[in-house]
Amino acid sequence: MNDKSSPRKFSRRKFVQGVSTTIIGSYVLTPGVSKISEKLEAETKEIASGKKPLNLIVNKVRYELMISPETTLAEVLRNELKLTGTKLICNHGECGGCTVLLNGEAIYSCQMLALDAGEKEVTTIEGLLTGEELHPIQKAFVEHDGLQCGYCTPGQIIAAQAILLKNSQPSKEEILTGMSGNLCRCAAYPNILKSVLAAAGYLTEGTNR
Ligand code: FES
Ligand code: FES
Repeated sequence: MNDKSSPRKFSRRKFVQGVSTTIIGSYVLTPGVSKISEKLEAETKEIASGKKPLNLIVNKVRYELMISPETTLAEVLRNELKLTGTKLICNHGECGGCTVLLNGEAIYSCQMLALDAGEKEVTTIEGLLTGEELHPIQKAFVEHDGLQCGYCTPGQIIAAQAILLKNSQPSKEEILTGMSGNLCRCAAYPNILKSVLAAAGYLTEGTNR
């Protein structure tokens, strides 16, 4: 048989080249396909990385992040957003160093997955400032020596804020109970109590001293 007339001359390589050209041609000619392809590529990358999207509102600023699902809120605040005022001390829900406000409630940010904080209002110690101006609770801690090494102080101040948001004139007992989840290894408790009582006074008087 004459080779030129043989159907076998249409080799597998030519067939593959033909198909590739057709696919590439379709891709170039159809902008919609390009968009779908980009979306698919992004989704494939997301699945491959194991990361999830997170919308977080911290100190009234919205952040859009991609994070691993096991990341805690404390880790996102400190490592991703560089808000290092929130301290990771025990990382086991025992000391209160990582306390932040979540929709006005004090929580241990080391014990919350960041994905669970999505679309909620997070307030850290940095969020109490007004520009460079200290919040009255921060001023009270300075004026009444409510700290020694200062490592537990951001958590103490946020815990105090949570109490004062609900009760502007708490008793000593209410303060001690409300802050019992915040440990101080320097045992600065007497002055922490004085500071919170003073802060309640400043806030009630409306004195932004
Ligand atoms: S660091 Fe979160 S409770 Fe100690
Ligand atoms: S001031 Fe040092 S741990 Fe509280």
